This record gives sequence, C-alpha cells and structure tokens, in this order.
Amino acid sequence: MDEMDGLCVRGCTRCPALVESRSQIVNGTGPDDADLVFLGEAPGANEDSEGEPFVGRSGSVLDSALRDVGLARADVRITNCIRCRPAENRDPTKEELANCRGYLETELERVDPELVVTLGKVPSQHLLNRSVAVTKEAGTVEDVRIGERSFRVLISLHPAATLYDRSQEETFAEVIASAADVAGVGDSGSGQSNFGDF
Ligand code: URA
Repeated sequence: MDEMDGLCVRGCTRCPALVESRSQIVNGTGPDDADLVFLGEAPGANEDSEGEPFVGRSGSVLDSALRDVGLARADVRITNCIRCRPAENRDPTKEELANCRGYLETELERVDPELVVTLGKVPSQHLLNRSVAVTKEAGTVEDVRIGERSFRVLISLHPAATLYDRSQEETFAEVIASAADVAGVGDSGSGQSNFGDF
C-alpha cells in the first residue's frame, strides 16, 4: 500500500471530510510484533492533538485494566479502524471505514498478533462484518478472515462504556483478563478463559 511506511500511514487524503477535521493522522502505537492488538473506532480530540490512540479518559480505563493483568500500554499494540478524527466525534461513514481498511489489514498482517480485541460496536462490526450486540457478546472469540488471512478476534466493550455505566467495570476488566489469557501475555495466568462465570 503506497501511503504506508512500515505500520504508519503518511499523508493520506482519501477522505476529504477527515482531511478537514483532523490535525494529524493518528497511527497505531506499540510493538510491531505485539501478541495483542486493541482496535478502537477513531481518534477523538485528545488523540488528534497528541497523535496517539486512546490517550483520553477511555485510554486511562484501558491502561488501568491492562495494569491489573500485569501489562503496560507499551506491551500491546493499540490502533483504530480509521486514523483521522471525525468532526464532533461522529461515527465513521462506511466509505471512510472502507478507505482505511487496507491500512488496517496491512498493519495486522505485518504485526501478526495472537489476538485482536475489538473495543466497542464499530470495530467489532467492522471486523466481523455482521451486527454485534457488544454487551451480550463481550468475551467471545472467533476466527475471522481479515484481508489475506485469518485472525482470532475477541469482542470487548469500549472502555468508555465503564465511564457511563460503572456496573460495566467488572465486565471490562474480565474481558481484558481473558484477552491477555487467550493471547498468552501478562500475568492473568492459566491459559483458561475467565469467562465461565458470566
Ligand atoms: N476511542 C476510540 O475508539 N479510539 C481512540 O483512539 C480513542 C477513543
């Protein structure tokens, strides 16, 4: 893909509205051979100004859940379905998702993770290519064809869900623990899913 430099997109102008609303392209962060990749929807205002995914309040929730299983942000890769901030945090359009899809596929192919965790409805539906009831399906894992190959994908709530509804905190923590377990990273332990009890 011509506008890709390793795992980074440079100077893309495929989506005119996003070129207007972004101040920079927000590429994924973390190791280029991470076992665990987290996929969000799109950069928000904080991410747009700092040039890094999940650096606002949602990012703090994610960092804290990672810490609970012995992982640091630097141990995992974090990226988004689209790399430019949509105005007023609207959802990405189908066309914008499609325009950015090849970049994501190339990133996943090059990183070659054990597991991709979709954070919320938009990334879950984007990768699974079906309607997803995130609260019901959180913690489930399936093999999904993405580009030229298949990846294990685990559905998760968006970390912001815990900010709107405190009762989701435990679920989110368990999803992250399960993700670390499935990917074989962190200190969550046994290689068994933690999902038996909910
Ligand atoms: N929410 C997302 O989906 N992505 C980010 O990078 C930040 C918040």
